[in-house]
Amino acid sequence: MDFKSIVAVVAEDFAAVDTFIADSLRSRVPLVSEVGRYIVLGGGKRLRPLVCLLAARACGYQGRQHIEVAAIVELLHTATLLHDDVVDDSGLRRGRATANARWDNPTAVLVGDYLISRAFQLVVALRNTTVMDIMAQGTCVIAEGEVLQLINQRDPDTTEARYMEVIHGKTAKLFEAAAECGASLGNPALQPALAAYARHLGAAFQIIDDVLDYTSSAEIMGKNVGDDLAEGKPTLPLIQAIKLAPAADAALIRDAIRTGGLDHLEEIMAIVQRCGALDYTMARAEAESAAALAALAPLPASPARDALEHLTRLALARNS
Ligand code: IPE
Ligand code: IPE
Ligand code: MG
Ligand code: MG
Repeated sequence: MDFKSIVAVVAEDFAAVDTFIADSLRSRVPLVSEVGRYIVLGGGKRLRPLVCLLAARACGYQGRQHIEVAAIVELLHTATLLHDDVVDDSGLRRGRATANARWDNPTAVLVGDYLISRAFQLVVALRNTTVMDIMAQGTCVIAEGEVLQLINQRDPDTTEARYMEVIHGKTAKLFEAAAECGASLGNPALQPALAAYARHLGAAFQIIDDVLDYTSSAEIMGKNVGDDLAEGKPTLPLIQAIKLAPAADAALIRDAIRTGGLDHLEEIMAIVQRCGALDYTMARAEAESAAALAALAPLPASPARDALEHLTRLALARNS
Protein backbone atom coordinates (compact mmCIF):
# COMPACT_ATOMS: atom_id res chain seq x y z
CA MET A 1 0.00 0.00 0.00
CA ASP A 2 1.56 3.33 -1.01
CA PHE A 3 0.79 6.72 0.49
CA LYS A 4 -1.95 7.44 -2.06
CA SER A 5 -3.79 4.22 -1.27
CA ILE A 6 -3.61 5.01 2.44
CA VAL A 7 -5.08 8.46 1.86
CA ALA A 8 -7.76 6.90 -0.37
CA VAL A 9 -9.22 5.12 2.69
CA VAL A 10 -10.30 8.51 4.05
CA ALA A 11 -10.16 10.51 0.80
CA GLU A 12 -13.26 12.61 1.41
CA ASP A 13 -12.31 13.43 4.99
CA PHE A 14 -8.78 14.26 3.86
CA ALA A 15 -10.04 16.77 1.29
CA ALA A 16 -12.44 18.26 3.86
CA VAL A 17 -9.52 18.86 6.22
CA ASP A 18 -7.76 21.00 3.63
CA THR A 19 -10.91 23.02 2.98
CA PHE A 20 -11.35 23.56 6.70
CA ILE A 21 -7.72 24.64 7.09
CA ALA A 22 -7.98 27.12 4.22
CA ASP A 23 -11.15 28.61 5.77
CA SER A 24 -9.46 28.85 9.16
CA LEU A 25 -6.67 31.04 7.81
CA ARG A 26 -8.86 34.04 7.14
CA SER A 27 -7.76 36.99 9.21
CA ARG A 28 -8.50 40.69 9.08
CA VAL A 29 -4.72 41.24 9.06
CA PRO A 30 -3.54 40.53 5.51
CA LEU A 31 0.01 39.49 6.50
CA VAL A 32 -1.37 36.80 8.82
CA SER A 33 -3.44 35.24 6.03
CA GLU A 34 -0.66 35.63 3.51
CA VAL A 35 2.06 33.95 5.58
CA GLY A 36 -0.38 31.38 6.97
CA ARG A 37 -1.46 30.38 3.49
CA TYR A 38 2.09 30.42 2.15
CA ILE A 39 3.25 27.84 4.64
CA VAL A 40 0.09 25.76 5.20
CA LEU A 41 -0.91 25.54 1.56
CA GLY A 42 2.69 25.19 0.40
CA GLY A 43 2.47 21.41 0.62
CA GLY A 44 3.32 19.03 3.39
CA LYS A 45 2.35 15.41 3.71
CA ARG A 46 -0.52 16.02 6.17
CA LEU A 47 0.60 12.94 8.06
CA ARG A 48 -0.73 13.96 11.47
CA PRO A 49 -4.24 14.78 10.18
CA LEU A 50 -4.16 11.46 8.35
CA VAL A 51 -3.36 9.62 11.59
CA CYS A 52 -6.22 11.44 13.32
CA LEU A 53 -8.75 10.59 10.58
CA LEU A 54 -7.69 6.96 10.38
CA ALA A 55 -7.69 6.55 14.17
CA ALA A 56 -11.25 7.91 14.35
CA ARG A 57 -12.47 5.62 11.57
CA ALA A 58 -10.58 2.60 12.93
CA CYS A 59 -12.46 3.18 16.21
CA GLY A 60 -15.80 3.20 14.44
CA TYR A 61 -16.45 6.95 14.44
CA GLN A 62 -19.15 8.03 12.00
CA GLY A 63 -19.41 11.77 12.72
CA ARG A 64 -17.64 14.88 11.37
CA GLN A 65 -15.71 16.30 14.34
CA HIS A 66 -12.57 14.39 13.43
CA ILE A 67 -12.16 16.65 10.39
CA GLU A 68 -11.91 19.76 12.53
CA VAL A 69 -9.63 18.01 15.00
CA ALA A 70 -7.34 16.88 12.15
CA ALA A 71 -7.23 20.43 10.77
CA ILE A 72 -6.38 21.81 14.22
CA VAL A 73 -3.54 19.32 14.52
CA GLU A 74 -2.13 20.50 11.18
CA LEU A 75 -2.40 24.16 12.24
CA LEU A 76 -0.42 23.33 15.37
CA HIS A 77 2.12 21.38 13.34
CA THR A 78 2.52 24.33 10.98
CA ALA A 79 3.04 26.71 13.89
CA THR A 80 5.80 24.48 15.26
CA LEU A 81 7.45 24.46 11.82
CA LEU A 82 7.35 28.26 11.58
CA HIS A 83 9.02 28.51 14.98
CA ASP A 84 11.38 25.60 14.37
CA ASP A 85 12.75 27.15 11.19
CA VAL A 86 13.56 30.36 13.05
CA VAL A 87 15.25 28.46 15.88
CA ASP A 88 17.14 26.19 13.44
CA ASP A 89 17.90 29.07 11.07
CA SER A 90 16.55 26.95 8.20
CA GLY A 91 16.06 28.43 4.74
CA LEU A 92 14.14 25.73 2.87
CA ARG A 93 10.88 23.96 3.73
CA ARG A 94 8.46 22.06 1.52
CA GLY A 95 10.66 22.88 -1.45
CA ARG A 96 10.53 26.63 -1.02
CA ALA A 97 11.92 29.45 1.07
CA THR A 98 10.93 29.23 4.75
CA ALA A 99 8.77 32.06 6.09
CA ASN A 100 11.74 33.42 8.04
CA ALA A 101 13.79 33.51 4.83
CA ARG A 102 11.05 34.93 2.64
CA TRP A 103 9.86 37.48 5.24
CA ASP A 104 11.87 37.61 8.49
CA ASN A 105 12.12 36.06 11.96
CA PRO A 106 9.59 38.31 13.72
CA THR A 107 6.99 37.60 11.03
CA ALA A 108 7.48 33.83 11.31
CA VAL A 109 7.35 33.87 15.12
CA LEU A 110 4.26 36.06 15.33
CA VAL A 111 2.30 34.24 12.63
CA GLY A 112 3.26 30.99 14.38
CA ASP A 113 1.79 32.42 17.57
CA TYR A 114 -1.36 33.35 15.70
CA LEU A 115 -1.75 29.80 14.37
CA ILE A 116 -1.50 28.37 17.88
CA SER A 117 -4.12 30.81 19.16
CA ARG A 118 -6.36 30.11 16.19
CA ALA A 119 -5.99 26.37 16.78
CA PHE A 120 -7.12 26.77 20.38
CA GLN A 121 -10.02 28.99 19.38
CA LEU A 122 -11.16 26.10 17.17
CA VAL A 123 -10.53 23.53 19.92
CA VAL A 124 -12.69 25.47 22.36
CA ALA A 125 -15.46 25.79 19.78
CA LEU A 126 -15.69 21.98 19.65
CA ARG A 127 -16.91 21.94 23.27
CA ASN A 128 -15.20 18.59 23.73
CA THR A 129 -13.28 18.47 27.01
CA THR A 130 -11.32 15.33 26.09
CA VAL A 131 -9.95 17.01 22.98
CA MET A 132 -9.26 20.18 24.98
CA ASP A 133 -7.28 18.21 27.57
CA ILE A 134 -5.25 16.32 25.00
CA MET A 135 -4.39 19.43 22.98
CA ALA A 136 -3.60 21.63 25.98
CA GLN A 137 -1.29 19.04 27.53
CA GLY A 138 0.19 18.00 24.21
CA THR A 139 1.26 21.48 23.17
CA CYS A 140 3.05 21.99 26.51
CA VAL A 141 4.99 18.76 26.03
CA ILE A 142 5.92 19.74 22.46
CA ALA A 143 7.27 23.10 23.62
CA GLU A 144 9.19 21.35 26.41
CA GLY A 145 10.69 19.01 23.81
CA GLU A 146 12.01 21.94 21.80
CA VAL A 147 13.47 23.52 24.93
CA LEU A 148 15.11 20.22 25.93
CA GLN A 149 16.64 20.12 22.47
CA LEU A 150 18.01 23.59 23.02
CA ILE A 151 19.68 22.36 26.22
CA ASN A 152 21.30 19.47 24.33
CA GLN A 153 22.48 21.68 21.49
CA ARG A 154 26.28 21.78 21.12
CA ASP A 155 26.65 19.20 23.89
CA PRO A 156 28.59 16.16 22.58
CA ASP A 157 27.84 14.24 25.80
CA THR A 158 24.12 14.07 25.00
CA THR A 159 22.98 10.49 25.49
CA GLU A 160 20.55 8.41 23.46
CA ALA A 161 18.09 8.63 26.38
CA ARG A 162 18.18 12.42 26.30
CA TYR A 163 17.76 12.37 22.53
CA MET A 164 14.71 10.10 22.88
CA GLU A 165 13.22 12.44 25.44
CA VAL A 166 13.54 15.30 22.94
CA ILE A 167 11.92 13.46 20.04
CA HIS A 168 9.12 12.11 22.21
CA GLY A 169 8.31 15.69 23.10
CA LYS A 170 8.90 17.69 19.95
CA THR A 171 7.57 15.15 17.43
CA ALA A 172 5.92 12.02 18.84
CA LYS A 173 3.59 13.98 21.11
CA LEU A 174 1.66 15.61 18.27
CA PHE A 175 1.23 12.27 16.50
CA GLU A 176 0.00 10.88 19.82
CA ALA A 177 -2.43 13.74 20.37
CA ALA A 178 -3.79 13.35 16.82
CA ALA A 179 -4.41 9.63 17.31
CA GLU A 180 -5.81 9.98 20.82
CA CYS A 181 -8.29 12.67 19.82
CA GLY A 182 -9.42 10.58 16.84
CA ALA A 183 -9.82 7.46 18.99
CA SER A 184 -11.67 9.37 21.72
CA LEU A 185 -14.35 10.35 19.22
CA GLY A 186 -14.95 6.76 18.13
CA ASN A 187 -14.20 4.51 21.09
CA PRO A 188 -12.40 5.86 24.17
CA ALA A 189 -11.53 2.31 25.25
CA LEU A 190 -9.12 2.17 22.30
CA GLN A 191 -7.44 5.48 23.14
CA PRO A 192 -4.43 3.95 24.95
CA ALA A 193 -3.71 1.58 22.04
CA LEU A 194 -3.84 4.39 19.49
CA ALA A 195 -1.75 6.64 21.74
CA ALA A 196 0.96 3.99 21.97
CA TYR A 197 0.78 3.38 18.23
CA ALA A 198 1.25 7.04 17.38
CA ARG A 199 3.96 7.65 19.95
CA HIS A 200 6.08 4.89 18.39
CA LEU A 201 5.20 5.99 14.85
CA GLY A 202 6.20 9.57 15.66
CA ALA A 203 9.48 8.44 17.18
CA ALA A 204 10.28 6.32 14.11
CA PHE A 205 9.36 9.24 11.90
CA GLN A 206 11.74 11.66 13.66
CA ILE A 207 14.60 9.13 13.80
CA ILE A 208 14.29 8.72 10.03
CA ASP A 209 14.16 12.51 9.64
CA ASP A 210 17.47 12.69 11.49
CA VAL A 211 18.96 10.04 9.19
CA LEU A 212 17.76 11.93 6.10
CA ASP A 213 19.56 15.03 7.34
CA TYR A 214 22.81 13.12 6.56
CA THR A 215 21.76 11.04 3.57
CA SER A 216 19.14 12.78 1.45
CA SER A 217 19.20 15.89 -0.74
CA ALA A 218 17.39 19.21 -0.80
CA GLU A 219 15.73 18.25 -4.10
CA ILE A 220 14.18 15.14 -2.59
CA MET A 221 13.47 16.38 0.94
CA GLY A 222 12.44 19.95 0.20
CA LYS A 223 14.68 20.89 3.16
CA ASN A 224 18.43 21.51 3.23
CA VAL A 225 20.74 18.64 4.16
CA GLY A 226 23.01 19.29 7.13
CA ASP A 227 20.68 21.65 9.00
CA ASP A 228 21.13 19.57 12.17
CA LEU A 229 24.93 19.60 11.99
CA ALA A 230 24.94 23.32 11.23
CA GLU A 231 23.14 23.92 14.52
CA GLY A 232 25.30 21.50 16.54
CA LYS A 233 22.36 19.15 17.14
CA PRO A 234 23.40 15.84 18.69
CA THR A 235 20.97 13.57 16.84
CA LEU A 236 21.16 9.76 17.02
CA PRO A 237 23.48 9.25 13.99
CA LEU A 238 26.10 11.43 15.71
CA ILE A 239 25.52 10.11 19.24
CA GLN A 240 26.08 6.59 17.95
CA ALA A 241 29.04 7.52 15.74
CA ILE A 242 30.84 8.94 18.78
CA LYS A 243 30.51 5.47 20.33
CA LEU A 244 31.41 3.41 17.25
CA ALA A 245 33.89 5.41 15.20
CA PRO A 246 37.70 5.33 15.61
CA ALA A 247 38.97 7.86 18.16
CA ALA A 248 40.03 10.50 15.61
CA ASP A 249 36.67 10.39 13.82
CA ALA A 250 34.78 10.49 17.12
CA ALA A 251 36.82 13.52 18.19
CA LEU A 252 36.00 15.29 14.93
CA ILE A 253 32.28 14.73 15.49
CA ARG A 254 32.46 15.93 19.09
CA ASP A 255 34.15 19.11 17.87
CA ALA A 256 31.58 19.61 15.12
CA ILE A 257 28.75 19.33 17.67
CA ARG A 258 30.48 21.87 19.91
CA THR A 259 31.06 24.42 17.18
CA GLY A 260 28.18 23.78 14.75
CA GLY A 261 28.67 24.76 11.11
CA LEU A 262 28.97 22.76 7.93
CA ASP A 263 32.76 22.69 7.45
CA HIS A 264 32.96 18.92 7.95
CA LEU A 265 29.57 17.85 6.60
CA GLU A 266 30.85 15.52 3.88
CA GLU A 267 33.45 13.94 6.15
CA ILE A 268 30.85 13.36 8.84
CA MET A 269 28.37 11.93 6.32
CA ALA A 270 31.07 9.39 5.39
CA ILE A 271 31.91 8.61 9.03
CA VAL A 272 28.33 7.94 10.15
CA GLN A 273 27.92 5.64 7.16
CA ARG A 274 31.24 3.83 7.58
CA CYS A 275 31.17 3.21 11.33
CA GLY A 276 27.69 1.66 11.34
CA ALA A 277 25.97 4.55 13.12
CA LEU A 278 23.39 4.92 10.36
CA ASP A 279 22.66 1.18 10.41
CA TYR A 280 22.17 1.37 14.17
CA THR A 281 19.90 4.41 13.83
CA MET A 282 17.82 2.71 11.15
CA ALA A 283 17.48 -0.34 13.40
CA ARG A 284 16.18 1.89 16.20
CA ALA A 285 13.61 3.35 13.82
CA GLU A 286 12.61 -0.17 12.74
CA ALA A 287 12.12 -1.17 16.37
CA GLU A 288 9.86 1.86 16.94
CA SER A 289 7.90 1.03 13.81
CA ALA A 290 7.47 -2.59 14.96
CA ALA A 291 6.26 -1.39 18.36
CA ALA A 292 3.73 0.88 16.62
CA LEU A 293 2.45 -2.08 14.65
CA ALA A 294 2.17 -4.25 17.76
CA ALA A 295 0.17 -1.55 19.54
CA LEU A 296 -2.60 -1.94 16.96
CA ALA A 297 -3.43 -5.46 18.19
CA PRO A 298 -6.62 -4.51 20.12
CA LEU A 299 -8.20 -2.80 17.09
CA PRO A 300 -10.93 -4.61 15.12
CA ALA A 301 -10.19 -5.36 11.47
CA SER A 302 -11.05 -2.50 9.09
CA PRO A 303 -9.59 -0.69 6.07
CA ALA A 304 -8.57 2.17 8.40
CA ARG A 305 -6.67 -0.23 10.66
CA ASP A 306 -4.90 -1.69 7.60
CA ALA A 307 -3.97 1.81 6.51
CA LEU A 308 -2.50 2.60 9.95
CA GLU A 309 -0.50 -0.60 9.68
CA HIS A 310 0.91 0.37 6.30
CA LEU A 311 1.84 3.82 7.58
CA THR A 312 4.32 2.20 9.99
CA ARG A 313 6.17 0.75 7.00
CA LEU A 314 6.04 3.93 4.97
CA ALA A 315 7.49 5.93 7.86
CA LEU A 316 10.65 3.84 7.49
CA ALA A 317 10.85 3.79 3.71
CA ARG A 318 10.23 7.49 3.25
CA ASN A 319 12.81 9.75 1.68
CA SER A 320 11.02 13.07 2.09
C1 IPE B 1 8.60 17.88 9.70
O1 IPE B 1 7.46 17.10 9.65
C2 IPE B 1 9.01 18.02 11.12
C3 IPE B 1 9.43 16.74 11.72
C4 IPE B 1 8.86 16.25 12.76
C5 IPE B 1 10.55 16.02 11.16
P1 IPE B 1 6.88 16.55 8.28
O2 IPE B 1 7.96 15.81 7.54
O3 IPE B 1 5.62 15.81 8.55
O4 IPE B 1 6.59 17.89 7.49
P2 IPE B 1 5.53 18.20 6.35
O5 IPE B 1 4.30 18.65 7.05
O6 IPE B 1 5.31 16.98 5.52
O7 IPE B 1 6.17 19.31 5.56
C1 IPE C 1 11.27 18.59 14.22
O1 IPE C 1 12.62 18.67 14.24
C2 IPE C 1 10.67 19.92 14.53
C3 IPE C 1 9.37 19.92 15.16
C4 IPE C 1 8.76 18.90 15.63
C5 IPE C 1 8.76 21.22 15.29
P1 IPE C 1 13.52 19.07 13.02
O2 IPE C 1 14.17 20.38 13.27
O3 IPE C 1 14.40 17.91 12.69
O4 IPE C 1 12.48 19.24 11.84
P2 IPE C 1 12.87 19.72 10.39
O5 IPE C 1 13.97 18.80 9.91
O6 IPE C 1 13.33 21.13 10.51
O7 IPE C 1 11.62 19.54 9.60
MG1 MG D 1 14.28 22.06 12.06
MG1 MG E 1 15.09 17.48 10.65
